[in-house]
Amino acid sequence: SSADKGEFKHYMLKETYEQPEVIKACLEGRVSDDKLLEQCFGVKAGEIFDQVKQVQIIACGTSFHAGLIAKYWIEDLVGIPCMVEVASEYRYRPVVIPEGTLFLTISQSGETADTLAALREVQSRVLASLVICNVPGSTLVRESDLALMTNAGPEIGVASTKAFTTQLVALMLTTLALGRRNGLTAERESAIIAALKKLPQQVLHALEMDSDIEKMAQSFAEKQHSLFLGRGTLYPVAKEGALKLKEISYIHAESYPAGELKHGPLALVDKEMPVVAVAPQNDMLDKLKANLQEVRARGGELFVFAGSDKVQSEEGIYVLNMPECEEIMQPVLYTIPLQLLSYHVAILKGTDVDQPRNLAKSVTVE
Ligand code: G6P
Repeated sequence: SSADKGEFKHYMLKETYEQPEVIKACLEGRVSDDKLLEQCFGVKAGEIFDQVKQVQIIACGTSFHAGLIAKYWIEDLVGIPCMVEVASEYRYRPVVIPEGTLFLTISQSGETADTLAALREVQSRVLASLVICNVPGSTLVRESDLALMTNAGPEIGVASTKAFTTQLVALMLTTLALGRRNGLTAERESAIIAALKKLPQQVLHALEMDSDIEKMAQSFAEKQHSLFLGRGTLYPVAKEGALKLKEISYIHAESYPAGELKHGPLALVDKEMPVVAVAPQNDMLDKLKANLQEVRARGGELFVFAGSDKVQSEEGIYVLNMPECEEIMQPVLYTIPLQLLSYHVAILKGTDVDQPRNLAKSVTVE
């Protein structure tokens, strides 16, 4: 059963390795050969999606990072505004809610106190609420108008892994539902569905990077600080990679959009601070490479996740080749080696991987 570690030493590792199958489970019954089957959002979904003019995403922790990625997708593929905010801020400030707002919460547990309070606070002022959630029958699912379950199965490790990648799949399905009403063509929808269906196999390939990542982990175990850089949809992936490292290895990990490097964090870079970069497989790559040169020039050791032959290894620059994938689904794929990195660093440090100090799986009180 899912609640059994089986051959794995920790739940987190087991859950990381379950990702190919749970991504498949998350797509099951939600897509045909070439179309989204939008009834999966609930019976009232079609009527509600027809009226959506913008999206407000609210979440905490790892789920918040999924929301940040969805913002890029929604504004790119749907072309309507999408705002993302952590629940603990949103719930306590006077907020402006434009007409036609779809209020989208993302939560593994469906019980996070701040997220639930934010929903209750605005429920009567929004067009409708949708939750992307992993726990059937949870409070957020019961209290939202629409729900899309991530179907990842029980997640026991406190550091979220498979819940995050299935949230991304569910968010892409949401993007398609809104997109088809806003000029996203049937061809594009079908191409994205094909990309989603290739993900389980590609994630499996990304998991094969495990032994390389295990070696890479040795360069982090003795360090006090680290920096994670990304651009575009890979910026939130960098944030998630840094969060994982903080949570289970207790190493200070800072994440930055690569273009902001020169506005502060470059001052911290020296040989004691390893820098992880997630390099996009698109026309932003050259920009990121320029950012990496700035790091290298300060003696920072670089670990770059990139498409094969896109970045060359050299003194102080270690390139880890990512399996091929459609550009749109890169955030899912690039998350995998960062999960493995935090795991292996935690193992080297001997921390309690599944139950990190001071953290809880589900924060149901404020
Ligand atoms: C806690 C967990 C995180 C999780 C966050 C939000 O901090 O340790 O892993 O991302 O809560 O939880 P939720 O269940 O709402 O996704």
